[in-house]
Amino acid sequence: MSRYSRILGTGSYLPPTVVGNDALAARLARDGIETSDAWIIERTGIHQRHFADAGTGSVDLGEQAARRALDAAGLAASDIDLIICATSTPDMIFPSNAALIQGRLGAAGGAVFDVQAVCAGFVYALTVADQFIRSGLAQRALVVGAEVFSTILDFKDRTTCVLFGDGAGAVVLGADTRPGLLASALHGDGSQAAILCTPGRVRSGVVSGSPYLHMDGQAVFKQAVQVLERVAREVLDKAGCTPADVDWMVPHQANIRIMLHTARKLGIAAERVVQTVAEHGNTSAASIPLALDVAVRGGQIRRGDHVLLEAVGGGLTWGAALLEY
Ligand code: UT7
Repeated sequence: MSRYSRILGTGSYLPPTVVGNDALAARLARDGIETSDAWIIERTGIHQRHFADAGTGSVDLGEQAARRALDAAGLAASDIDLIICATSTPDMIFPSNAALIQGRLGAAGGAVFDVQAVCAGFVYALTVADQFIRSGLAQRALVVGAEVFSTILDFKDRTTCVLFGDGAGAVVLGADTRPGLLASALHGDGSQAAILCTPGRVRSGVVSGSPYLHMDGQAVFKQAVQVLERVAREVLDKAGCTPADVDWMVPHQANIRIMLHTARKLGIAAERVVQTVAEHGNTSAASIPLALDVAVRGGQIRRGDHVLLEAVGGGLTWGAALLEY
């Protein structure tokens, strides 16, 4: 009998501190840097973001999202035999966030590792978990996206620091005889690493290079609008579907203009696009599972719906997945 993976439950968590555009603009103004609520909304659709406090890491956020996903699935941590965390802002160099989350949940025994594919990380991690389940290597997987991008933002660079926020989302995947994840596609182009990167490194106790996020926004924008439509069509083709079969699109929440442009090119109505970028900003690998959980708990996405996920991020990396929820 064929073996597939299905989503059994979703969860998410946002740190309580909300920073609106005006508050952020006031903070930047203290260093003589000019930005405005109007510019940020017009260029990105972002109204506010959540920032973790100094003592909170991506493991703290990921643990809470994971607990909520387990509750939604009606499972205990001991039922999980694989944890994958997608993150570019882990708590430690090692061990992985997934191992630390497993330790917090008290679920020792299963495989644990992180996936680092920046904003496309959740689509990558979901696809890897799906392959583990299909092959029989795992029965039930927890896939977490957790980020504290506020820790790598340069608040003297207005072209990047207004874009990102902190948060976490998670799904529990379980083996099933009916397909849940219908198709996925993952891609990368390492020759474009320089257009979106945090190049600093720690060597012999010394940080060399910039530990802050750098982005050529226009270059990433141009790539994004090309690759997202292409990869979305690729997964739809693989699954034998067309854009008309998509009930909900859950894009990476980087910029409302990119999200709606891609939907328009695919012929998917804006009302079918789950939008959380206004409230969350860009939370990198956490943005898709966060948006998915908001739409599931809000009653938008229902069992049986076809949901298209797509994302692009540093690397460059990009990918898409089509699932039946
Ligand atoms: O998550 C991974 C994937 N990342 C993305 O998908 C991000 C892709 N890129 C973008 O979303 C957009 O390129 C941005 C939102 C980053 C920028 O929007 P844009 O429409 O491409 O603006 P721009 O870079 O062309 O800048 C327009 C102007 C410039 O001024 P001049 O040269 O026209 O005088 C910038 O200096 O806006 C200026 N500017 C700002 N002004 C006020 C840049 N940042 C700000 C700011 N506040 N925060």
